Amino acid sequence: MHKMVENGVKHFRLDERRLKRLESLMHGIIKKIKPDKAEVERLTALSNEVMSRLRNLVPKSVEIITAGSIAHGTHLKGSSDIDIFMLFPKEMEERKMEMRALEIAKRVVSKQKHERYVIKYAEHPYVKLFMDDEDVTVDIVPAFKIRDASEMGSAVDRTQLHTEFVLSHLSEKQKDEVRVLKFMLGQHGIYGAEAATQGFSGYLCELLIYYYGSFAKLLEAFARLSPPVAIFPANRSEAIGKEKAELVKSFNSNFIVIDPTDSTRNVAANVSMEALARLSIISRRLIQNPEKKVFYGPRYSAVNERDKILEFRSRLGTDMYIVALKTDDIADDILWQQLKKFKSRLETALAEQRFECILSIQGIGNGYAALAFFINRPKRGTDVVLGPSAFMAGASESFMRAHQSKALAVTMYEDRIAYIEKPKFNDAGELLRSMSQKKDLPTHMRKATAKVLLNKAPEEYAEILYPELVFATSI
Ligand code: CTP
Ligand code: MG
Repeated sequence: MHKMVENGVKHFRLDERRLKRLESLMHGIIKKIKPDKAEVERLTALSNEVMSRLRNLVPKSVEIITAGSIAHGTHLKGSSDIDIFMLFPKEMEERKMEMRALEIAKRVVSKQKHERYVIKYAEHPYVKLFMDDEDVTVDIVPAFKIRDASEMGSAVDRTQLHTEFVLSHLSEKQKDEVRVLKFMLGQHGIYGAEAATQGFSGYLCELLIYYYGSFAKLLEAFARLSPPVAIFPANRSEAIGKEKAELVKSFNSNFIVIDPTDSTRNVAANVSMEALARLSIISRRLIQNPEKKVFYGPRYSAVNERDKILEFRSRLGTDMYIVALKTDDIADDILWQQLKKFKSRLETALAEQRFECILSIQGIGNGYAALAFFINRPKRGTDVVLGPSAFMAGASESFMRAHQSKALAVTMYEDRIAYIEKPKFNDAGELLRSMSQKKDLPTHMRKATAKVLLNKAPEEYAEILYPELVFATSI
């Protein structure tokens, strides 16, 4: 008996005993996260209501359907985003279709029922309807009606095909396991394809459960995942050898899940290596120990974020610089990407000036953006600027002219002149400040001057950084 358990761990397979424990764990989770009958009925009724309002306004040639996880039966309890698609005939001109779609969608909003809307911009502009009395939002999205991906005009056209695929391929049991997977990934901060998460989208979860067959099988596969991996959920096969190498090259990715409705799309394109690696670790842990505390990610409470960040800093004994910014009111995805680029620019400069940054994080929210750099306390005296060989007459002379006036001292390193200079920046703060002038900031973060703070974390910035710090430092 003891031997078998050991082997189970070693090969990351679920032996019978662990599988039983995992199944009972999943059973409990499903009870908690699966919407009950009343909730499903309520959402279905609301969705039908909006669909029938739309149908009364559109010509016969326009089809009204639901999509996304509510239509798929893979949504989590309490999720309240209904997706409704208006499918226009493909012959229609795109701009005309967009105009017509907005016009129609706006007309379904009922003031008497305390509904309001905003126009959002994705592939096409669409209406986000808020049914405040019901605490539900409905995205009313236009697309072209297509039969397969070859007819596709834009990426949203695929969504209707996803719904068909999921409804015709996943069993009810598998749908519940999709819910378990989505919930678990959410607990560990890797659910969702958006830039801030770079994790697994809802549709990707659906395809993965279908491909591996079950949550347990998925855990076993991920426990020993060895990227690059390229899979075809359509016929549940995996690419190997030359075919795999070609896919890796053409998609420029080490994790490829080919959309069964469109072979030109990698559904996992946004999954970062970090998210993939985290799922691999979680899978091994859950196989070894199928228990609640493994299934649920790290807990933290949203109080005293400021003190907790400062405690973390003092535990490391590093310095902590926060670059504090304010953001324009635009999509999080754009802000997140701009901030990420800015962060990596600063990191490169820090490294060039030999400031050793051991951890950096970024956060956005509530109109604020912040970067935090944990930097080893500098023990730096001077910089050595090494010139060309003295035998390169011209270069050597011009090097000396350029450097001699500001040098603290000069010496020879064999045949090369070396000037010993004061470092360009005395500390990382000077560098960060010099690179955070208004003109250097990301375009959507220029409404206020940046502040660079040493070992301080104002509440509004601590609030957005702390969850990111918890995520970054718990594995
Ligand atoms: N979709 C997609 N690619 C994305 C985002 C969305 O193809 N990057 C499509 C999928 O068909 C998805 C649908 O749009 O099912 C709805 O997207 P979304 O609401 O983001 O995800 P859901 O699958 O509905 O999952 P959730 O339960 O998190 O809402
Ligand atoms: Mg959804």
